[in-house]
Amino acid sequence: MFRSNRVTRNANAVITGAGSGIGRAFALELAARGGAIVCSDIDEAQAQATVERIVAAGGKALAVRCDVTQLADVQALAQTSEDWFGGPADLVINNAGVGAGGHHIGDMTMADWRWVLDINMWGVIHGCHVFAPRLRAAGRGGLINVASTASFAAAPRMGAYNASKAAVLAVTETLAAELADTSVHVCALCPTFVQTNIMKAGRISPASSKFADNLMRWAGVSPERVVKSALAGLDRRQLYVLPQFDARLVWRLKRLLPSSYTKGAGFIDRFAANDMPETNHATDSESTRSRTGAM
Ligand SMILES: NC(=O)c1ccc[n+]([C@@H]2O[C@H](COP(=O)([O-])OP(=O)(O)OC[C@H]3O[C@@H](n4cnc5c(N)ncnc54)[C@H](O)[C@@H]3O)[C@@H](O)[C@H]2O)c1
Repeated sequence: MFRSNRVTRNANAVITGAGSGIGRAFALELAARGGAIVCSDIDEAQAQATVERIVAAGGKALAVRCDVTQLADVQALAQTSEDWFGGPADLVINNAGVGAGGHHIGDMTMADWRWVLDINMWGVIHGCHVFAPRLRAAGRGGLINVASTASFAAAPRMGAYNASKAAVLAVTETLAAELADTSVHVCALCPTFVQTNIMKAGRISPASSKFADNLMRWAGVSPERVVKSALAGLDRRQLYVLPQFDARLVWRLKRLLPSSYTKGAGFIDRFAANDMPETNHATDSESTRSRTGAM
């Protein structure tokens, strides 16, 4: 089959967290571009639902259960994908992630810190550890790590999420340098607010959830829009994709005026606290319950 120079066309793609939101949008878009897609998720039924949408539209996809916190799961995902594709993946998207916020550092429980870092940071480390050598051996292809504007924004009450996404950015930049002598393109996607299930499934303190919902409603864009920007960025060989104006604004402010930026973030935190009357101090013996009740 003719294979375009663009890695996003006719790609044999593996996506984590493909059962919802941005991961599902990546799967649908890449399938529409002629790709064969392995849709993996910890929630196999949701991954299967994505596959059914692709197949109904005439595309090719396979659902695989994979918990990205488990290295063995990610290794099995790579093997299953290679068997199904009949060769290595062209494109890997480390997307699975969760949200958490609402507590200052010291108030967020250790259990919540570990939950976020386990999925967001270790999930991406596992994905890079398993797939980078395969991409290097193939000598071509692409890898997108779904980071966030939180990778560099350092917004208060989001310490664990910020730390996890800063790690994702550092890993992505390191990998890009290490693969610079190959034709493998590496990219960090850094959105601000995207209308997905992340708030519903996340561990957001009750006091912050109304504020977060409002931000999401007013500032959030569709996952489809973010995915199109990411794929265009990858095809242009961009290392960073900042798909929204506010992401680009924060990026520049943080670099131009780092100290003033941080003071401003603190001021906004105190101002926003007026919108969050009940300050929620979680204890280390309990974690913030996700709003779906699932932990
Ligand atoms: N929505 C936003 O505003 C936003 C902004 C910036 C970055 N992001 C990032 O985008 C990525 C996708 O999030 P989303 O917004 O689409 O959320 P989402 O909740 O809609 O989708 C996340 C998916 O990840 C899966 N998942 C959770 N834990 C997993 C695990 N251990 N192993 C495998 N899969 C797991 C979930 O089942 C779900 O299908 C995340 O990394 C998130 O941090 C989201």
